[in-house]
Amino acid sequence: MSALDRLAERQLVVVTGKGGVGKTTLASVLGRLLAARGRRVLLLEVDPRESLHQALGTEPSGGEIVPAGPRLWLQNLQPAAVIEGLVHEKVPLDYLARKIVESPAFHHFVEGAPGLKETALLGYAYRTLHQGRRPRADLVILDAPATGHGATLLTAPGLLAQAAQGGQLGDMAADLAAFLADPTRCGVALATLAEEMPIQETLELLEVLQAKLGLRPDLVVANGLYPVPPPGPGLELLRTRRRLNEAELARLSAAWDGPLVSLLLLALDRGPALIDRLAQAFLQEDR
Ligand SMILES: Nc1ncnc2c1ncn2[C@@H]1O[C@H](COP(=O)(O)OP(=O)(O)O)[C@@H](O)[C@H]1O
Ligand SMILES: [Mg+2]
Repeated sequence: MSALDRLAERQLVVVTGKGGVGKTTLASVLGRLLAARGRRVLLLEVDPRESLHQALGTEPSGGEIVPAGPRLWLQNLQPAAVIEGLVHEKVPLDYLARKIVESPAFHHFVEGAPGLKETALLGYAYRTLHQGRRPRADLVILDAPATGHGATLLTAPGLLAQAAQGGQLGDMAADLAAFLADPTRCGVALATLAEEMPIQETLELLEVLQAKLGLRPDLVVANGLYPVPPPGPGLELLRTRRRLNEAELARLSAAWDGPLVSLLLLALDRGPALIDRLAQAFLQEDR
C-alpha cells in the first residue's frame, strides 16, 4: 500500500513541520492528489499570512471557502474567528453573542484556556466532516500552524478535556481527542528539509508523537532536495549540498522506517505549476 492509498482512507490529515520547510506546499500536493482520487477535499490553512491560495492559484480566502479545482476547496482559518463563530452558534441572540465575544472575560478565557484555540480549529475540521447529511468534505487536510511544536496541536484536545473535566466544552474536547487518537480516521504527514536542524527536529517530533500520543505519522516528506549535479567542474557547491542532503536522509532513515518520500527543489516559483510537478514526482516516489 502506498502512503497516498493510506491517506485516502483518512478523514483528517494534519500536515505538520517547522515553518519554511514546505508544509503548505505539501498540503497542496496532497490535496491535489487526493482530490484526483475522488475524495472531496477541504484544505485548511492556519496562518494569518495566507499562502495556500498562491500555491493553488486562487483568490485569497479571507476566511471563506474558495474552490481550487475539481473536488478541492481551500479556506484560511483564524482561531479567534472560529471561537467567535462558535459563540454565535450557541448564543442565538446576536447582540448577546456580540457582548460575550467583546467582553474582556471572554478574551482572557480564550487566551488563557490551555489548548482552546487548537481544539477550536480541530473542532471546526471535525464539524466540516460530520455536520449534516452530506458534509462539505470527505477529507480535511489541515496545514497546521508553524508556531510551536507540531505536537501542540495534536495534544491540545486531550489537555483541554482534562482541564475542563466534563461540561459541554470538556465533552467536545474528549470527543476530539478520541477522534485524533483513531489511526483509521486521522493521519499525520510530516514535512521536513533534509538539513541538519530540520532533521533533528523531525526526529524529536517523531519521538514526542510516539511518546505522548502513541502516534506514527502516515508519511514523512523530505522536501527541497538538491538535484544530483552532472559530472564536471564548477558545480562543487551543488555537490556538497546534495551530499549533505543524503547524509541527513540517512540519519532520518536510521530512525524512521515508515513511508518516506523525497522531493527535489524545483526551479519554479510558488504556484500551481510547482504543485503539479511535485505531485507527479510524489507519485513516482510513493511506492
Ligand atoms: N520542492 C520545492 N521546490 C521548489 N520550491 C519549493 C519546494 N517546496 C517549497 N518550495 C517553495 O518554498 C517556499 C516555502 O514553502 P511553503 O510550503 O510555503 O513552506 P511552509 O508552509 O512550510 O512555510 C514557497 O515559496 C514554496 O513555493
Ligand atoms: Mg505555510
